Amino acid sequence: MTDARVRAPGRVNLVGDHTDYQDGYCLPVAIDREVTIGWRPRRDGRVVVRSGGLPGAVDLAADGSGDPGDGWGRTVAAVLAVLAARGRPPVGFDADVSSTVPVGAGLSSSAAFEVACALAAAAAAHFDIGGTDLALAMQEAEQRATGVPCGVMDQMASVHGRAGHALLLDCRALTVEPVPLPASVAVAVVHSGLPRRLEHSEYAARRSACEAAAARLGLAALRDATPDLVASDPVARHVVSENARVLAAAEALRRGDGDAFGALMLDSHRSLRDDLRVSTPELDLLVDLAMEHGALGARLTGAGFGGCVVLLAPHDSAAAVARAAAERYHALTGLEPMAFAVRAVDGAGVLQGS
Ligand code: GLA
Repeated sequence: MTDARVRAPGRVNLVGDHTDYQDGYCLPVAIDREVTIGWRPRRDGRVVVRSGGLPGAVDLAADGSGDPGDGWGRTVAAVLAVLAARGRPPVGFDADVSSTVPVGAGLSSSAAFEVACALAAAAAAHFDIGGTDLALAMQEAEQRATGVPCGVMDQMASVHGRAGHALLLDCRALTVEPVPLPASVAVAVVHSGLPRRLEHSEYAARRSACEAAAARLGLAALRDATPDLVASDPVARHVVSENARVLAAAEALRRGDGDAFGALMLDSHRSLRDDLRVSTPELDLLVDLAMEHGALGARLTGAGFGGCVVLLAPHDSAAAVARAAAERYHALTGLEPMAFAVRAVDGAGVLQGS
């Protein structure tokens, strides 16, 4: 049915979680799991979106008004409303969505969906939006659709991905520095088999705790705090120590030092577990098992409270390490993990041949 196709990747964050909403640093990778949307214009001003051949469709006005239902239609409505507020002409289109990003895994399936929807909507109306403006608009759409006060990391990673590179994001300056991933290492992911729990309310609670800590210190954000200022506040301490780890990890990547990078991932996991308290026993177990089976480093990735761990391993063994950790985890817990290696890919765009 389609005239054109767009794609937007999910992401895995190598280090730097719960820092983006405090103007901090993070180091995500856009991955070879993505949302693709085939679309073609409609003349009646409606936006009609179907997903993966499933029955039913979301049918909205081009500015997002109408009844979105209570599933992913809310995201479509938010994307259209945010773009309308930025001046997208009210042009309708049909869209057919498919995705290889696991949902609820902490791999930014929703950011990939938002960015892909926005690219289709923009292309249909010949509306020009891209780069960081697109990422900021889709962060607003995510907040509007879910009510979760997320930061901008996920949308920035989906938009700015670079094949073979991690992305050093400065969430205050909104700059992106691609840092090459050394050929000697590879990244893999193991899903714990448990969806993220309590994520929305706990995420908002961590964000408010950080804002309160910054306010007590008279700072705009914890990005500006020094380690001694936050020594007795675990939540703030996580943000400050995590920002330092991101900068050290980017430096380790530049040197091609996988061991140093792996040690920083482990430190990050401990800080997320003990200081910020966003881990779970299952994620802790997976990190331990990844290390026992030969990873250089491993940590929970994304918001926490379930979802995935990310691991770094010598290039030729990453997939095997992830599989071995997953098998042992299944034997110990009876849960159904999912393990796969990921490649760093380019950010969202129009698919060739469209
Ligand atoms: C979620 C949010 C991001 C970020 C991470 C934690 O993925 O959408 O903005 O805060 O959690 O690092």
